[in-house]
Amino acid sequence: MNTNNKTSTGSLTCIGTGITLAGQITTLSKNYLEEAESVFGILPDKLSEDWVKSLNPSYESLQYLYAEGKSRRQTYQDMTEVVCQAVRDGKKVVLALYGHPGIFACVGHFAIERLIGEGYPAQMLPGVSADACLYADLGFDPGTTGCQAYEATQFLFSGVPLNTSAYTILWQIGLAGEHTLKTFKTTAQNLEASVRILNKWYPLEHEMILYEAPFIPVQKPRIDRFMLKDLPKMDITSISTLVIPPLTGLKLDKNALDEFGLDIKDFG
Ligand SMILES: C[S@@+](CC[C@H](N)C(=O)[O-])C[C@H]1O[C@@H](n2cnc3c(N)ncnc32)[C@H](O)[C@@H]1O
Repeated sequence: MNTNNKTSTGSLTCIGTGITLAGQITTLSKNYLEEAESVFGILPDKLSEDWVKSLNPSYESLQYLYAEGKSRRQTYQDMTEVVCQAVRDGKKVVLALYGHPGIFACVGHFAIERLIGEGYPAQMLPGVSADACLYADLGFDPGTTGCQAYEATQFLFSGVPLNTSAYTILWQIGLAGEHTLKTFKTTAQNLEASVRILNKWYPLEHEMILYEAPFIPVQKPRIDRFMLKDLPKMDITSISTLVIPPLTGLKLDKNALDEFGLDIKDFG
């Protein structure tokens, strides 16, 4: 824990509730949740909220701070301030976010940075994220070929090269090209532009996967395989993650092996 000598008793612990309801929270996170004096959360649905409330009745959702037409940048600042104020008021606070609290989720990071700057103890505990679920459900090990991950819009706008020998994970594909930060959906035009950008790296027939891990244990994951050219026709939701399998595997490089005094023959 990052601790400073603040005399107030307030503190913050950011926890992840996992993706699938009730079964993916760690024992440590659950203990913090049950013992908190004040719990705030950004959770995917009412069922998750009711479950968290059953563990700690002080639970308050921060979802009310989102609004169509309001910049998400402002929403995240407002959420951060609500959490920080409760800590300043002397409460032992838990911020419960679905998945991992620090993966593609900025409020926990903002609050921890602000509170530590003000001298309060603040920490983050890891949770089971959407990509942890996808390795299990899609049955691939990111260690086999390597794996790169981007927020979809940041990737699409940045012109960065893709390593096509590795898996690619594009988070928030449901917001692809959404630059205003004020709406919650991508558009057909943005998806067509995404196809043109991805086509710099992959043929139009390359297989892609839309993945959605189940929020409820009895549901099955969504695993829809399709060709790059069909991306605009797919039903993409706010919880869809795009997975792009490698075009080629990793290959041995003669110049790199030379640096180790090795030869391609040494690998049979
Ligand atoms: C704001 S981020 C939250 C990620 C979350 N903190 C985590 O650890 O997985 C939202 C993005 O996470 C991914 N995501 C969220 N829920 C998902 C699910 N059930 N299945 C697959 N991806 C999901 C999607 O890419 C979605 O656009």
